Amino acid sequence: MKIWLDGGLRDIESARVSVLDHGLTVGDGIFETVKATDGTPFALTRHLNRLTRSARGLGLPDPDHDEVRRACAAVLEANPMPLGRLRITYTGGHGPLGSDRGDQGPTLVVALGATTRRPDSTAVVTVPWTRNERGALTGLKTTSYAENVVALARAHQHGASEALFGNTVGQLCEGTGSNVFVVLDGEIHTPPLASGCLAGITRELAVEWTGARETDLPLDVLDRADEVFLTSTLRDIQAVHRVDERELAGAPGPVTAKAMRVFEERAGDDLDP
Ligand SMILES: Cc1ncc(COP(=O)(O)O)c(C=O)c1O
Repeated sequence: MKIWLDGGLRDIESARVSVLDHGLTVGDGIFETVKATDGTPFALTRHLNRLTRSARGLGLPDPDHDEVRRACAAVLEANPMPLGRLRITYTGGHGPLGSDRGDQGPTLVVALGATTRRPDSTAVVTVPWTRNERGALTGLKTTSYAENVVALARAHQHGASEALFGNTVGQLCEGTGSNVFVVLDGEIHTPPLASGCLAGITRELAVEWTGARETDLPLDVLDRADEVFLTSTLRDIQAVHRVDERELAGAPGPVTAKAMRVFEERAGDDLDP
């Protein structure tokens, strides 16, 4: 397996970054996960634009899109696979032990892992911890993801594949690595970005392609929604058949099933929408 590090392809076994990389010591980094089908990335332009937004939010230098594209292409070519998760990581680089950033420039890693198509429906749990809709990192895709590690472990303990967070004012926000949509009276709603959720690329496309509305939703909307679904790079649109103890029999329901069809069609028509 080959990855990209510091300007070229390396063997994953021998590739090394500094043990003082600020991404490692304090989580000072950003990332993107991109789906790649038969070696072709999906929506790469949107992912690169979000990478730049995250970099600016953290005060990292703008990533060089040409270099990142070259890195993605090289890694995909070196590791052929039917369905891959391409992972772009960009950190503050070698730095001091505290929160001040060093001056040796950022680290760029592009890696690829094999994955399989997700099931059409899944179970989720809600967690008691909150997303902070007013934090310095709100809306940025940073490598400070340990809260998501803890919440996802909780989901797995309960036989679920995702954990959903409310925000500090009790509104529905997002999952550890996905956005959430609900169907109410036949209409699709998803929390607005002001809820503190990540501006998911799949969310953005689903809103565009299904006409879903951005609506402030209380967390307990999950107790009464007719249908619930998740969106993310590797889930696309995925129905939810259980929220905590509540079963949503027959998931995907009709509205979700239609959204899944529309998403698949539109995504198939344009690989970089
Ligand atoms: C916290 C969080 N929310 C939402 C998403 C979904 O975003 P995307 O559709 O761009 O994968 C992700 C990405 O994996 C995420 O990490």
